[in-house]
Amino acid sequence: MTTIEEAGVRPPAAEQERPGRVVFTAGEIRHRVAELAREVEAHYPAGEPLTVLGLLKGSFIFLSDLVREMRRPLQIEFLVASSYGAAKRSSGSLAIHYDPRTDLAGRHLLLIEDIIDSGTTLSELIPRLREQAPASIEVCALLHKRLVRLDEEPRFVGFSAPAEFLVGYGLDHAGEFRHLPYIASLS
Ligand code: IMP
Ligand code: MG
Repeated sequence: MTTIEEAGVRPPAAEQERPGRVVFTAGEIRHRVAELAREVEAHYPAGEPLTVLGLLKGSFIFLSDLVREMRRPLQIEFLVASSYGAAKRSSGSLAIHYDPRTDLAGRHLLLIEDIIDSGTTLSELIPRLREQAPASIEVCALLHKRLVRLDEEPRFVGFSAPAEFLVGYGLDHAGEFRHLPYIASLS
């Protein structure tokens, strides 16, 4: 069978880039996620209601691993939002496609984000969630590029990330590579 390369056809952009250097191994991630679960547990008083809110799609693997390490009652919700990017930074640049259908009032809300880059997603989302009067809102991000100073820094961070485009463990490039059990930079 003739491959695309042999046929001399240029593969689409998404296929030219491949995961390169492994930045965080599956073992390193597993260890850090377990530590994060302990940090989160210690922060919330026992007996107070906690909702873990995953931002899809990027957080799906991280959230799954994190909650299975947590030994306290909690509920899980998801939210789907997309940012129109830096060109439209003003309010309204974040579109929410699906939000929790449950009542968040009085519950501690822990937002789960895969990676913080510009921080735009969170800075626009948090004020909107505040309208629902949760008891508190905190952020748990697996990765933080620390490129910009944020108005509100996440309380829980897995790793400081290099200023590279990363894929795997939920992170995608053009929809690909989310399933990799490690995190790699795209080469
Ligand atoms: P922010 O709003 O600029 O902080 O961007 C956050 C979102 O951008 C993340 O939830 C990711 O979906 C995406 N993103 C930012 N950096 C990367 C990366 O290195 N790899 C994959 N996705 C990224
Ligand atoms: Mg993404």
